[in-house]
This record gives sequence, structure tokens and C-alpha cells, in this order.
Amino acid sequence: MTNRHNFLSTLASEADRDISIASLFDAEPNRLSRFVMREGPLRADFSKQALDGKALDALLDLAAKCDLEEWRAKLFSGERVNTSEDRAVLHMALRGVGGTAENQKEVAEMRTRMADYANALRADGKFKNIVHIGIGGSDLGPRLVADAFEARAEQSLTLRFAENVDGASVNDAIKGLNPAETLAVVVSKSFGTQETKMNGESVRDWLGQYGGTNMIAVTANRDRAVDFGIAPENIFDFWDWVGGRYSVWSAVGLSLQIAYGPDVFSDFLDGAKAMDLHFRDQPLQENLPVMMALVGIWNRNGLGYGSQAVIPYARRLRKFSAFLQQLEMESNGKSATRDGDATTLTCPVIWGDEGTNGQHAFFQWLHQGPSEGRYGGAPVDFVAVLTDHENRPAHHAALLANCFAQSEALMLGKDEAVVRKENAARADIDALAPQKTFPGNRPSTTITLDELSPNALGHLIALYEHKTFVQGIIWNVNSFDQWGVELGKVLAETILLEMAAGAAGDHDPSTTALMGLVK
Ligand code: F6P
Repeated sequence: MTNRHNFLSTLASEADRDISIASLFDAEPNRLSRFVMREGPLRADFSKQALDGKALDALLDLAAKCDLEEWRAKLFSGERVNTSEDRAVLHMALRGVGGTAENQKEVAEMRTRMADYANALRADGKFKNIVHIGIGGSDLGPRLVADAFEARAEQSLTLRFAENVDGASVNDAIKGLNPAETLAVVVSKSFGTQETKMNGESVRDWLGQYGGTNMIAVTANRDRAVDFGIAPENIFDFWDWVGGRYSVWSAVGLSLQIAYGPDVFSDFLDGAKAMDLHFRDQPLQENLPVMMALVGIWNRNGLGYGSQAVIPYARRLRKFSAFLQQLEMESNGKSATRDGDATTLTCPVIWGDEGTNGQHAFFQWLHQGPSEGRYGGAPVDFVAVLTDHENRPAHHAALLANCFAQSEALMLGKDEAVVRKENAARADIDALAPQKTFPGNRPSTTITLDELSPNALGHLIALYEHKTFVQGIIWNVNSFDQWGVELGKVLAETILLEMAAGAAGDHDPSTTALMGLVK
């Protein structure tokens, strides 16, 4: 802890100087070759970050001092890097990389079983709809991917999702569907999650007489699924070495396979596999996830930014920032190190929405708002898709133009002198000019995908997964547990029982009053 603390303080001193992003392109003639990286269909341009070659060297030195290469080797070899839960972390094995021969055998068998099941169901034609029931990692990944696959895949079944315990979620999911033509897939790693069990029960009631055959489960806790009433032959397993937020690659993706076909799903896995191999084999200085993680460390620990925006300029990736909120904030939103020491300045707040919509909402703040970060606003990851999948070339050109313009505007800003010149006739120029000035020098990364193929999406998600791992190593937190979600769950169970019994319980005055409002 002390060492890492010292390394990170050194980084803060390194960042305590003014860096003009725009000037770096002249100062560093090879900037694009060092700060742009590609893996397959994914290209990431980090050159508009407030980070020069000297700072990058310091970051790479930091990564080496934090034993990143050793940790990476431990991860892929299946060591129990999830120390607080004493588990290995092997979602890469689901893509065919890392783990033991036994892991690979289990995965291969499950992939065959899933593909056979999906193919049989698609051929049979009995089911026209799938209702996928799950929350958190059992929802966000499949939902993001389902949106994205729609750009390319031929979907033969309707796919709906029910995640929230709010009855509106399940009502919307089943609205207008015929139970006889609907397959419910209950997805829960633990099979103990309140929302999923309740939604599963409600859908089971709705399925009525079809309940015996129309409901299957995906879980790492087979016994609980059986207790819930799912027939053992209708249960698809995954393993404790697959974290919930890393589980879309497992049987958790079964609904996707059924809806879009096993081949599409295989392409998705292959895309992630290519990123796994890149991350595992490339030296740190040429390694895309490492670069992305180090840029984030620079913004957080060097420049003091408390948040990171992620703006996909792609309607079909509109769930991406929500997906990353779980991936990054549940993984690294921690204030205690692996060794139990207190730490600060770990995961920033991750937020965002699709472009161009965000331009008409929070971009004002991004361009001119203050923040605790050195240059104001928040660092942005722009994500764009280069191919038009909608057969609307004019729309697509406008979408991309907006994306590229925003990163340029954030970097260049607009000088007060220019504003004064443009508004010289205004009597209130002294009051007006600062309001119309853009400070600029606000950092961003632009990621482009050649197309929104399953393979490219696999690259993108795996990139962020490995970024999250690298940052967890540098911050020395366990990225694979999530103790912080437990307290509220326990209290909610108590409050639910008390409200049902009309009991006040033992609560603070505010909570007691709120409970009293519920009739
Ligand atoms: O919110 C906590 C959490 O445990 C997540 O990590 C997980 O993805 C989600 O709940 C759902 O859990 P399960 O798949 O066990 O239902």
C-alpha cells in the first residue's frame, strides 16, 4: 500500500504542470503512432488526452512497479486473484483463453450444449418469444449485446428483458405475448437475487399450464434453481470463476444464442478472444487495454478527475455506459485495498448516454462546466461505428461528424479574444465574453469500430474488461468482489417483512416515516 501510495503521489507531481493537448501534436511529431492503437476492427485514439510521452513513460514505470505483468500472468493461469472470495477469475476461458484443461473441457461441453439447444429451438419454431429474466451482470451484458446484434443478425425470435423488481418491468416484458409461444430464461449466478426470483415467479404464474416446459434457468447454483422448480435437464450451468459482470460470455448469453443463432454468438466470443490474446501477449507499451487503463489512472490520480463519461455515437450501443457502470464501478469502486488498508482515488464515476442526444443535455457541462479535474469537465470516451448499418448514409455521416467535432471542440475550445472580436458591437461584451468562451484542453479518447459486428463488439467489451483489471491492480483493490451491494439488500429484506407485518421495526426517524407512508 505504502509503495503504491508513493507511486501514485509521484504521478500527481508529474501531472502538476500545464499540458496543452493541441500543442502536443507539434511537440511530438510521432504522437499518432504512439497514441493510436488498433486490434482487429477496433482502433483507439488516445492522442487527444492531456498526456505527453514523458507522462506515459511515468505511467508505464508505475505499471511495472505494481507488478502488472506478474498479475496478468496470474490472471490467465487461473490463480485465485479474487482473494476475498478465494476464487479464480477466468471469464477469458469462456472465449477459449487461459485456465486449466479441465476449465476448457467444461466450457467446450457447455458451448456444445448451448448451441445444440439453441439450434433445436430455432428449428422447432414452437417458441416465438424469449423473456430473459435477470439483473446486474445477468442482464446488462445480454441487453447491450442484443441491441447491438440487431444491427446485423437476423433475429428469428422476439427477445424481451425483465430485470427490475418494479412490476412495470415484468409487465412490459410479457405485454402482448402468448404464453404458449414464450420461453422464459431465468438467469442468476446465485439464484438468490430478490428481483430475479420475484420476476421468475410472476412469469411462471403467467405461463400457467406451460410452466413445466417453458422455463429454463442459467445459474452457478443448480440446487437453488431446482428448489425454485426448474427441471434439472432445463438448467444450464456456469461456474464460480465467472464473475456476474463478466458473465455474458457464458450460458448467461443463451437467450442471445437462441434469438440470434450460435454462429453470431461464436463470432462475439472470437472477438473477445482476439482482445484477450492481445492483452496477454503484447508488451505493456503496445498493449491497448493497458494504455486505456493508464490513461484513466492519469486522469484520476494525476489530473484529479472524479468522473469519466462514455458516449457511444451509436444508438445500438446506448446501453454501453450503463454496462460499464457495473463493470467498472462494481469492480473498482472501493476504498479498501486487498491488504485492508484505506485508499482513495480509485474508480471514478462512470456515466454517459448516446450521442448525439447527450449534446442536447449534458455537453454544456462537458464544454464549460467546472469540475475538480485539472482542466475542467470530465474525460470522455467517444465510441463510433464507421459502417452505416441502417442504410441511411446521410444520417451516418452526420452522426460521425458530430462525434469527431465534439472531441475537437473539447480540445480546441474557443479563446476569449475570438469571442470578443465576434461580439465587438455588444455593449455588455465584458459580461458576455467569459460566458461564450470555451476553455478547451479537455481530454478525450475516440474509439472506432470498423463495423458493429459481433466480433467487433467482443473486442470492445473485452477491452474494457481488461482495462478494469489493470486499474484494479494499480489501485491494489480486488476488482472481482462486490461487498458494497450487500448491506442494502439485507436491510430491504427486513423492511419488506416489517411493512408486510405492519411493524415499525427499529429504524432512524426518516426511514420510519417513509415506511409509514406505505399503505
Ligand atoms: O448487484 C450485485 C450482484 O451480485 C451483481 O454482481 C450481479 O451481477 C447481480 O447482483 C445479479 O446477481 P445474480 O446473477 O446472482 O442474480
